[in-house]
Amino acid sequence: MERLVSGVGPVVLGSVGLWVMYYLMQRLRLKNRLQDSVVVITGASSGLGKECARVFHAAGARLVLCGRNQTRLQELAQELTGETTDGNRQTYTPRTVTFDLSNTETVAAAGEEILKCYGHVDVLINNAGISYRGNIIDTHVSVQRDVMETNFFGPVALTQAVLPSMVQRRSGHVVAISSVQGRIAIPYRSAYAASKHATQAYFDCLRAEVERFGLQVTVVSPGYIRTNLSLNAVTGDGSQYGVMDKTTAAGRDPVEVAHSVLRAVNQRQKDVLLAGPLPTVAVYLRTLWPALFFKLMASRARKEHRLKEE
Ligand SMILES: NC(=O)c1ccc[n+]([C@@H]2O[C@H](COP(=O)([O-])OP(=O)(O)OC[C@H]3O[C@@H](n4cnc5c(N)ncnc54)[C@H](OP(=O)(O)O)[C@@H]3O)[C@@H](O)[C@H]2O)c1
Repeated sequence: MERLVSGVGPVVLGSVGLWVMYYLMQRLRLKNRLQDSVVVITGASSGLGKECARVFHAAGARLVLCGRNQTRLQELAQELTGETTDGNRQTYTPRTVTFDLSNTETVAAAGEEILKCYGHVDVLINNAGISYRGNIIDTHVSVQRDVMETNFFGPVALTQAVLPSMVQRRSGHVVAISSVQGRIAIPYRSAYAASKHATQAYFDCLRAEVERFGLQVTVVSPGYIRTNLSLNAVTGDGSQYGVMDKTTAAGRDPVEVAHSVLRAVNQRQKDVLLAGPLPTVAVYLRTLWPALFFKLMASRARKEHRLKEE
């Protein structure tokens, strides 16, 4: 028995040692994964997209920054070009491609322009988006459709424009920045919540369909982030909401969220929920105890309605 134990000891130790070495090598490999890779970021002119641009640039990625405002994209590209790094990493001057995601007719052409920048895309981050505030009864159907165009059909068209090239190369990673509201629908956010639920569903299907080509798909669902999203939101008649909501102002630092996106890409995470305890409980409640979830949402709607009336 003693002989058996003394024989097993070195085998266990050796196996653990080998496993630790393998783990460290994997970590190192994943850490350097983004050096020289081509990363496309939509909505790079502001908020989370801008911070993603900073962290992916610092990781050595060759960036293609997208948005509607060429001046703001150029300013960011110049700022990043002038940045010093830790000396170990080579960084690149970002390219820019300007287009409107809500005009799906032009997105395919933008996809071609993006592919021409470096000949391929390693990571596509579908980040651009617009929010909405309003009650369904007073909201024009055209507004519901517009939000859907920017948040859903635009990213779908762009993804499908670069997908054939990824499939051909048997390599590529598509990221969708969704929202907690892609998991739970909150009253007075119908257009936004619907577009993000559609996003979650589409990219979940995509993940399953492209796995056989070796492609990765990540859906990131953050809670509130401190950006201009509520300021830029549209209302029921299509006008700009123009208010910095308290919830948004008290949200997560976009730099922190951008690092989570970087980690999700490096570690090839499939689905990331970046929410505090309350929204996380709500997500599970929606599935496990829907009756209670619906009651809570109706009570929230009544409260919000009363506050608006006051
Ligand atoms: N902030 C939050 O609380 C929060 C929470 C969860 C999820 N998110 C998601 O995070 C993503 C980034 O939003 P953010 O918070 O960083 O908001 P943001 O500061 O308002 O930035 C939105 C970005 O989207 C771009 N964009 C908007 N409409 C576009 C269009 N039609 N075509 C092309 N680009 C367009 C804007 O660029 P231009 O205006 O220059 O074109 C801008 O760069 C969105 O998908 C949002 O849904 C945000």
